[in-house]
Amino acid sequence: MRILVTGGAGFIGSNLTRLLVAGGHAVTVVDKLTYAGNLSSLADLQGKPGFTFVQADICDAEAMRRTFAAARPEAVMHLAAESHVDRSIDGPGEFIATNVTGTFQLLQAALGYWRSLSGAAKDAFRFLHVSTDEVFGSLGPTDPASTSRPRTTRIPRTARARLPAITSPAPGWIPTACRSW
Ligand SMILES: NC(=O)c1ccc[n+]([C@@H]2O[C@H](COP(=O)([O-])OP(=O)(O)OC[C@H]3O[C@@H](n4cnc5c(N)ncnc54)[C@H](O)[C@@H]3O)[C@@H](O)[C@H]2O)c1
Repeated sequence: MRILVTGGAGFIGSNLTRLLVAGGHAVTVVDKLTYAGNLSSLADLQGKPGFTFVQADICDAEAMRRTFAAARPEAVMHLAAESHVDRSIDGPGEFIATNVTGTFQLLQAALGYWRSLSGAAKDAFRFLHVSTDEVFGSLGPTDPASTSRPRTTRIPRTARARLPAITSPAPGWIPTACRSW
């Protein structure tokens, strides 16, 4: 598959990208390379077929539109975020910009791209938003989405209920998903 991974130079994104490329997927990584991103974590993939790196800010609507047009992804895995929650106390602005406005811009770019698709490609397109229990609340030990249990659809449904602005624009889109780990 052709997969667009945002935040692919981060802790989880770099390992995810390595796994996807090893699995034969064509991966385009979009990353702003903030203090949390490190291109050296993808050094072994540089120059490999199936790997493309784009340094860009997900808040940049035009850059996201261009990236979708070039990468023509079949799926998006959105991990770009200000992820260190403690930092939001001193500098909440960056969190609003990336996690809210940036996610919105990325969704808009994905929606515009998705509308340009047709048939099976349109039906099969997926957008996966990886976020955190800081957004969705803690899970109890018997919660069906607990890490000790197989993945369920409960969290995406909960997320949709709590984040009406990021509801699915089309059947089959996964508006957001979360594992607490
Ligand atoms: N690491 C964990 O234990 C954990 C736990 C629960 C949820 N999560 C969630 O998973 C996701 C990824 O986590 P992580 O630990 O890999 O985060 P990370 O902080 O290591 O990486 C985030 C990446 O996003 C990039 N980025 C930040 N702002 C950007 C922007 N505006 N445009 C483009 N790229 C930008 C950074 O450069 C970095 O490479 C986050 O949503 C996080 O909340 C992580």
